[in-house]
Amino acid sequence: MIIAIDGPSGSGKSTTAKAVAKALAYTYLDTGAMYRAVALGVLRLEIDPFNDERVAKVVNNMAVSFRGEDVFLNGDDVSKIIRYEETSKAVTPVSANPAVRELLVEKQREIAADHDIVMEGRDIGTVVFPNADYKFFLVADPDVRAMRRLKETEEDLSLEQIKADLLRRDKRDSSREYSPLKKAENAIEIDTSDLTFDEQVDKILSCIQTKEPKHGGK
Ligand code: DC
Repeated sequence: MIIAIDGPSGSGKSTTAKAVAKALAYTYLDTGAMYRAVALGVLRLEIDPFNDERVAKVVNNMAVSFRGEDVFLNGDDVSKIIRYEETSKAVTPVSANPAVRELLVEKQREIAADHDIVMEGRDIGTVVFPNADYKFFLVADPDVRAMRRLKETEEDLSLEQIKADLLRRDKRDSSREYSPLKKAENAIEIDTSDLTFDEQVDKILSCIQTKEPKHGGK
């Protein structure tokens, strides 16, 4: 079973997807963390993230892996550092690079091959798994999204800075040529602006019929 959860940053995707995976006892995969890890790898090699050719040359030598929810780049736990502002900026051009997308999409399909999975990202329901069993597209008001990010960040950033970054990424993610952020035609759209966390999770779980329903674990 494949459950695709897409949407922009701060829409509640990650926390919701994690809780849905836990409630169903499915594997959880944060594909944004994979793009972030590659972007960090590019920065560590002191390569300009906008230099598509150079990025394409090095991406095949980067090993991105997971242990639970922790993400590793070439064996190094990068779970925290990939969330910092510097990587957040670099991930936009890196994730628009077709060579990066090709490699990571292949890896995402491999990971899902033998698992029931909840996979979250931008293009899971449109490109990675157009035939996913369930597709959800989460949206929320930009002010709400920025406030959520502010609560999460350990960096000294203002609400305005965070909101500007979100809107900048939305624009780039939605207008890029390859796999832009967009709702799959048959995805269920959920506006999380006024929903509590439990309500978001329950809304999704109520749509899903598993072969053997599992309960609890939220
Ligand atoms: O979900 P996130 O904000 O951690 O994602 C980081 C970046 O990666 C985001 O700017 C868009 C990109 N991304 C993508 O292009 N495709 C995905 N499936 C997941 C994330």
